[in-house]
Amino acid sequence: MAEATTPLMVDLDPATVPLEDIDVSQRELWSQNKKYPFFKRLRDEAPVHYCKESEFGPYWSVTRFEDIMEVEQNWQSFSSDPTIVIQDPEEDFELPMFIAMDPPKHDEQRKTVQGVVAPRNLQNLESTIRSRVQTILDDLPIGEQFNWVDRVSIELTTQMLATLFDFPFEDRRKLTRWSDVATGGPETGIVESEEQRREELYECLEYFTRLWQEREGSGDGNDLISMLAHGEATKDMDPQEYLGNLVLLIVGGNDTTRNSITGGVIALNENPGEYAKLRNNPSVIPNMVSEIIRWVTPLAHMRRTAVKDYVLQGQQIKAGDKLVMWYASGNRDERAIDRPDEFIIDRARARQHLSFGFGIHRCMGNRLAEMQLRILWEEIQKRFHKIEMVGEPERIPSNFVHGFSDLQVVLHPH
Ligand code: HEM
Repeated sequence: MAEATTPLMVDLDPATVPLEDIDVSQRELWSQNKKYPFFKRLRDEAPVHYCKESEFGPYWSVTRFEDIMEVEQNWQSFSSDPTIVIQDPEEDFELPMFIAMDPPKHDEQRKTVQGVVAPRNLQNLESTIRSRVQTILDDLPIGEQFNWVDRVSIELTTQMLATLFDFPFEDRRKLTRWSDVATGGPETGIVESEEQRREELYECLEYFTRLWQEREGSGDGNDLISMLAHGEATKDMDPQEYLGNLVLLIVGGNDTTRNSITGGVIALNENPGEYAKLRNNPSVIPNMVSEIIRWVTPLAHMRRTAVKDYVLQGQQIKAGDKLVMWYASGNRDERAIDRPDEFIIDRARARQHLSFGFGIHRCMGNRLAEMQLRILWEEIQKRFHKIEMVGEPERIPSNFVHGFSDLQVVLHPH
């Protein structure tokens, strides 16, 4: 097995480990947050790097900003099919979803649902989001320790998701659970076995099938389920493809925004000078939101599979090879971003980051995510002098969902 022959990266010195031994996919690097020096070494010395043996089989790492853009733009050579994560799909449990498809099918399905985040819909959502944020913040205990991830990050994103699906509000925590189950197998401790994971995902499908059936006969709803049920490109999907697209929309809108909400609190605590800037000038919030999303990089990578031979940075990629575009590295590339390891809330060109990807798959919900974060921080600044981080955050042991399961905080009002 890979474990027997692959050295454990966290035990090694990133400056001296032989390049060919580097495997940035190892979970420990992510749960212990020790990956950045390894990525810097790769960007400097082997920007397109082949790892011949890992838990996920052989793969290429693409670590520089410009090279990631080159791969993203060339979907004719680098396919999103069969999956966009480093782990290969299980053969007997395929989950087709449009993020893991190429044109033309990708474009047709994306078009079916993208109205949910059209500018006018976002405008309509703004007041709903603001009043929910206000309620969540006003219910928080003052001067008492609690888990910010659970009380704020999860609660707010799950409420938002329930709105997008027009999902029964009292059952909304099911969405959180399904999102966690979809992205985490037994190795992350979220479920005990692969069977349990599938069972829970089928419960998700069953629940959503009921909602589909209720809405299929009624007029055009503005929610994601109605859009899928009525859309030309999606109305005849088989159940597995419905489940796949549900997983995409649930995870897309959930874990990512959740981890940006948590990560912002951490970044401000680690950079008190930036927190002071925010207090003195709340108009910096929209810019800060982009900086938070870059800093956190809530999805650490996207994967492509080469369908043609291609030379990238002098390396010969062969048809069939797996490429991992490490956004977490591209967003720290000093060739593209000034002082990339620093968190600077008023940095110039803050939207120039890779956290939302690039090209035809660029995140569909990016404006919605930014809006949620902007409103949250506007309301936080009205209420609290400081959200004090107590102790160290707990990180998710994943090289894909880049985030936090626990962040203990104490609130200090003005
Ligand atoms: C795609 C990140 C929020 C829905 C993506 C991609 C990334 C990403 C990296 C793939 C881009 C690529 O391959 O080039 C994020 C981050 C978010 C966020 C960092 C929050 C900070 C959301 C929200 C929604 C959403 C709120 C809800 C509507 C989607 C969908 C896709 C996608 C549907 C697939 C697009 C396609 O394949 O054409 N997102 N996302 N995302 N995201 Fe997001």
